[in-house]
Amino acid sequence: MTSSNRPVVVTGASGFLAAWILPKLIARGHSVVAVDIAREETRLRHVMRGAAPEGIIWQLADLTDDGLMSRIAEQYAASTILHLAALQIPACRAHPIAGAKVNVVGHVAVLEAARSVGARVVYTSSVAAKPRGAANAPANLYGVFKRADEEIARLYAEDFGVASFGLRPHVVYGIGRDQGETSAVTSAMRAAALGTSYTVPWTTATCFQFADDIAEMFVRVVEAEWKGAHLADMTDNVESTADIIAAIRASAPEADVCADGPERLSPTSGFDVAALEKVIGPRPLTPLHEGVQRTIEHFRALHAKGLT
Ligand SMILES: NC(=O)c1ccc[n+]([C@@H]2O[C@H](COP(=O)([O-])OP(=O)(O)OC[C@H]3O[C@@H](n4cnc5c(N)ncnc54)[C@H](O)[C@@H]3O)[C@@H](O)[C@H]2O)c1
Repeated sequence: MTSSNRPVVVTGASGFLAAWILPKLIARGHSVVAVDIAREETRLRHVMRGAAPEGIIWQLADLTDDGLMSRIAEQYAASTILHLAALQIPACRAHPIAGAKVNVVGHVAVLEAARSVGARVVYTSSVAAKPRGAANAPANLYGVFKRADEEIARLYAEDFGVASFGLRPHVVYGIGRDQGETSAVTSAMRAAALGTSYTVPWTTATCFQFADDIAEMFVRVVEAEWKGAHLADMTDNVESTADIIAAIRASAPEADVCADGPERLSPTSGFDVAALEKVIGPRPLTPLHEGVQRTIEHFRALHAKGLT
């Protein structure tokens, strides 16, 4: 097998970001091995407006199982492991040992798997890894785990020659975003589309990113030529929960949604997208009002088909 027809192994394949990334990989001719602890295609079908995903090889696996990711990478001669699997902020808070296992041990297992077959790793860190507040540090265990992952990837390149590209999504919104602390902004868009009431239970200034843009950037990194260890932010465009609510009302003037609650600390400066733009060129940047409008329209279309 040449590297061009060796498959991309995607972890966390039943999750939100995968639901946007998998159709793009398939459409661009990649063979895809989808790894998750459970096979769940609802988000994927929703992103695809009810169409059935085709051409995906599923492998049910817990990435923390000793040696399992290496066996999968070897079985399929993976060219790239696109590592998305993780437990989110609330799950890491409620179950710290499970969080450390999946988010740190699982990350090491992915790097080991890549090392065993000479694959590259493209992985999701998070804005949560960036320092903030009085402690000038990540604000929760999830962020600490993600920060550790960035350093682990750097050392795997230095010590073992494993090439990796870490990307830090900020607050991603779009169809399929139904869990994690910041999924509340997508819940507000869903409520506006379905004519129900919703309050985002916090306020913040942060970067909001449309899932389609994030997926496009991940796929372009998978397809680009690079070596070594890289780490990049994916945006530097700061907006606020008030901007989200205004964008929702612009698309659905009758919407009964608001943001009200404690301020959620998030970094608003110090973002570095240079390493990303160096390999993929200018980033796709859907303006907030357009991404929100497309999301509300998409929710309405799913609702009309009885899908949400
Ligand atoms: N969604 C965002 O706004 C956002 C922002 C920053 C970073 N990220 C990161 O991007 C990645 C993808 O996020 P998402 O929103 O798609 O998450 P998600 O929670 O929707 O999906 C995560 C997937 O990982 C799977 N998983 C969990 N434990 C596993 C295990 N032990 N073995 C195999 N699979 C396992 C889950 O079953 C789930 O399908 C994560 O690493 C997340 O931390 C997401």
